Amino acid sequence: MAADGPSGARKPVSVLFVCLGNICRSPMAEGVFRSMTKSDTRVGTIDSAGTGAYHEGSSPDPRTMSVLEENGENGYQHEARKVRNSDFKDFDYVLGMDADNLDDLSRQQRRIIKNGGVHAAPAKVMMFGDFGGRKGEEVIDPYYGARDGFSIAYEQMTRFSKGFIDQVLQDADITPS
Ligand code: 4NP
Repeated sequence: MAADGPSGARKPVSVLFVCLGNICRSPMAEGVFRSMTKSDTRVGTIDSAGTGAYHEGSSPDPRTMSVLEENGENGYQHEARKVRNSDFKDFDYVLGMDADNLDDLSRQQRRIIKNGGVHAAPAKVMMFGDFGGRKGEEVIDPYYGARDGFSIAYEQMTRFSKGFIDQVLQDADITPS
């Protein structure tokens, strides 16, 4: 977790992006956030996962990849995976894309805490859209729709990432030890 260390330095902030299938929205969020925080020492592990296991092991949807590439974000690779109980301990922030994701994540976190105590799942579970200036803004699932949905999602990911950087990382400056 991003707490003060012995020298007063903060540990890098780790972030897990979550959607349903982990092939459209959360890999896009991960790709955008990775590119916007490249070589930023305030950021630790970045990953993405799905609340469902339908596409486990698959690469991101070609429409996610083409929107990323169209915006100059090349070289992103990911294999879809399901959210694990350990993610709630390993990541400082677990960020859902819509209200269903948030419900599923909150329910999983409550279950882990019930069985293992708060130390088993201390992550902050929130909507990524909370960082867009309007609390609870959802990223609509674009999977069954037209490519347009992916471009709309890309604009949101960029805006939410900026908000996260401004609101969370400003507070996590690494002071030299
Ligand atoms: P994602 O989109 O949650 O943004 O990755 C979806 C991808 C696949 C399915 C649903 C949503 N699906 O039902 O297969």
